[in-house]
Amino acid sequence: MAIIIDENCGVFTLHTRNSTYQMKADFRNLLLHTYYGEKTDNSDKSLLLFQTDRGFSGNPYEMGKRDRTYSMDSLPQEYSSFGTGDYRITSLRVQNGDGSQGADLRYTGYQVQKGKYGIPGLPAVYAEDEEAETLIIRLEDSYSRMEVELYYGILEELDIITRAVKITNGGIEDIILKKAASMNLDWEYGDFEMVSFYGRHCMEMNFQREEIHHGIQAVGSIRGASSHQYNPFVLLCEKGSDERMGSCYGFSFVYSGEFLIEAEKDQIDRTRLICGIHPDNFSWNLSSGDTLWLPEVIMSHSGSGTGRVSRNFHKVIREHICRGEWKNRRRPILINNWEATYFKFTGDKLIAIAKEAKKLGIELFVMDDGWFGKREDDNSSLGDWVPNEKKLGCTLKELAERIVAEGIQFGIWLEPEGISEDSDLYRNHPDWAVGVPGRKPCLSRGQLILDFSRKDVQDYIIEQIFDLLDGIPVTYVKWDCNRAICDKFSRMLDSSRQGEFSHRYVLGLYRVLEELTERFPKILFESCSGGGGRFDAGMLFYTPQIWASDTTDAIERLSIQYGASFGYPVSVMGTHVSMVPNHQTGRVTPLSTKGCMAMAGTFGYELDIDKLTQEEKAEIKEQTDVFKKHYDLIQHGDYYRISSPLEGTCTVWEIADPSGGEALVSAVYHHVQANPVPVRVKVQGLKDEADYQLYLNENFEEKYPGKRLPHGFASGEVISGASLRQFGFVVPEAMNGFQAWQIYIKECSCSCE
Ligand code: DGJ
Repeated sequence: MAIIIDENCGVFTLHTRNSTYQMKADFRNLLLHTYYGEKTDNSDKSLLLFQTDRGFSGNPYEMGKRDRTYSMDSLPQEYSSFGTGDYRITSLRVQNGDGSQGADLRYTGYQVQKGKYGIPGLPAVYAEDEEAETLIIRLEDSYSRMEVELYYGILEELDIITRAVKITNGGIEDIILKKAASMNLDWEYGDFEMVSFYGRHCMEMNFQREEIHHGIQAVGSIRGASSHQYNPFVLLCEKGSDERMGSCYGFSFVYSGEFLIEAEKDQIDRTRLICGIHPDNFSWNLSSGDTLWLPEVIMSHSGSGTGRVSRNFHKVIREHICRGEWKNRRRPILINNWEATYFKFTGDKLIAIAKEAKKLGIELFVMDDGWFGKREDDNSSLGDWVPNEKKLGCTLKELAERIVAEGIQFGIWLEPEGISEDSDLYRNHPDWAVGVPGRKPCLSRGQLILDFSRKDVQDYIIEQIFDLLDGIPVTYVKWDCNRAICDKFSRMLDSSRQGEFSHRYVLGLYRVLEELTERFPKILFESCSGGGGRFDAGMLFYTPQIWASDTTDAIERLSIQYGASFGYPVSVMGTHVSMVPNHQTGRVTPLSTKGCMAMAGTFGYELDIDKLTQEEKAEIKEQTDVFKKHYDLIQHGDYYRISSPLEGTCTVWEIADPSGGEALVSAVYHHVQANPVPVRVKVQGLKDEADYQLYLNENFEEKYPGKRLPHGFASGEVISGASLRQFGFVVPEAMNGFQAWQIYIKECSCSCE
């Protein structure tokens, strides 16, 4: 049983395999948060809370005269609210019918359900009934009669607890939610560091680890999407913890819109973390009887470092967020024409790329931007999803069929949320573009954005795309969105509801994606927002992979994918091999390094095959063979970060089969030195008692005559799993700049004796 309830004491204890979470409805029916961490017993942890009069930390009326130590300002709470004497950051701010702000939430009851709850219209973790349990705790503000239901989903085996909130106006007066977060978590003690991921277009997911200091630290987005700038995934790590040791918590917000994750260390060194929709652009009117669901947060705790937390998230995202036909099916190795041609192509050119790609083991050709309307650059035609038959030299159907006839699948790029001023759609429906009437809108990439908060716009797009793709042999769609949202205003909302725009936009996007993925269940959808501008667990509910960055430079990708690996599995990261010099950085990296990097993701190519030499083509064929051979290991194995691209000379990661029977270690020299210090890899996830052999991706002796391979690689050498774990092996040196090595480790039946 994952949920243990002591009704007499009001204690709710949730257990996963290695963690415990506890709450208590106290004598005032305030829901206290009493514990989250390493697995423990069911005993009431509130008995160990420490309370004293803090001065200027007020007391609830009924306590004020008899116990000045009882203060909302210092008690650890499960779902804090503004206006009750809690002066820390709070999760809920409500404006009541009389204009006052505040809600005094008290526990009124609970319910336990088999299986995992779902959230109407929003993405959420899903599970079979036997894999999960749900606890619902009801709170109420007796003044306004607002009801707040806290939902907890427990996936015991996966060490995952999810949280979501449902708010209902049970009173007769309208109320306005001014801030409504999905999660509040209080720690009674502890020194923490927050790991977050900041960035920008082409350089997402930079790792940052900072002490939680007094005051408020936050990451978030007010850009209409989760954004390139901050990712809605953070970790809170005990000071001194690392990849393999110490207490660490991960939090993933399953939402693709504006978010805020804030942490505060308070006057008595207690830490509070809040995660939810960003309140800056948010307000929501709840009329009598209305309900609002808030998006889900996935939480996981590990007592053995960040590596374990990441693997927990990899599993839950792979198996309980990603859905549909392509969840477990082998995804095709693709080639995309964007960096090969940009807007300048013909149908024949595309077919030539596809034909050659097929010979190299590539399985899917993707036609990127520029195939519709009169789009020869990024200034026109978004919204006019009409194929440019003059440019293609045929209809879309004919082009797709010609490509499929070459023995390769066909995919297509779309940007359904975009609208160009120079488009028939805009000329016919200027009011469908987001903007404030009478003001000039902010342009970005020269374009506007469609008002996806409107049902008529959503319906139009669904039908447009359906008509476009119906009857065409399309197996893949790249869903791009190339700007952030400004001028947040919808003509369909009255003035008192404009604060609902951003969230309604995201709900509209989710509805369109749900309908289209249902209508085209066999199509593999990959989302993209100028690369990683909407790289979040919410999008992964609809599209099982996301183009991780518009940077295809393998060395820059090391840190982008390193950052992403903390919260997301390799199976969702869109990664391609591109040309040299790289188009974003001008850097020249070996083809083998680019291949190694791209294999830590969905794997594909984005280059003009006609410009490659025969040797390069032969190498690509080898790469596609290697990827296909190791596909299951790479996509479903356990991922270990061995060394970081932010320090040292070599970035190393490992993917091990959960059985311990095989592993693939990838090592990329990001800093090349003369006479370098050896890079030692202690292999994880193998069986101590088993024997293994190490295989290098390249034929070393032939390629580098006279050079010496480190021990372990000489043909036939057998090493025990215990030695590989405890002593490790040394990665061969870099023989050329930015060299990569792939080291395949396989269990063997031979014996060392
Ligand atoms: C941004 C994407 O990230 C690129 O890969 C490419 O599809 C362009 N948009 C096309 O406009």
